[in-house]
Amino acid sequence: AYEKLWLAASVLLILFLLGSVTYGAVGPGVAMVSDSEPAIDAGALDEDDRFSEPRVEQVGENEYAAYVVARQFGFQPDPIVVPANSTVTFYVTSADVIHGFEVAGTNANTMVVPGEVSEITVETDGPAEYGIVCNEYCGAAHHAMEGKLEVV
Ligand code: CUA
Repeated sequence: AYEKLWLAASVLLILFLLGSVTYGAVGPGVAMVSDSEPAIDAGALDEDDRFSEPRVEQVGENEYAAYVVARQFGFQPDPIVVPANSTVTFYVTSADVIHGFEVAGTNANTMVVPGEVSEITVETDGPAEYGIVCNEYCGAAHHAMEGKLEVV
């Protein structure tokens, strides 16, 4: 007699599991993918206004935006040229794998993830030259992946 009870309990459990999976997928207020949805299509940077032509653009009286693309194994533009005594926001994305973007000798340092745009704002001072290094292992020539930042 207990077998039927156990059977019924198992069936109920299965129905409950199916129900909660369905609820999780389609229920109200539950977004399955929004957190991981890419901000940008790493495979189609050519079609993106900001990154089809990596560049530095003046966006305010003394403010600049630097659109930078990291790809195996370099950064574009190279060099990145920005004015002294200004505010520069770097927008950095990757065309392929995870890279790093570190302005050597400063605290400007971020991970660069395909599908995302990393943002760092810096205040530049006098004219100077900095190396830019990739500090995330990204393939055979990772150690040679570098760029240049010229503050002029
Ligand atoms: Cu790019 Cu390491």
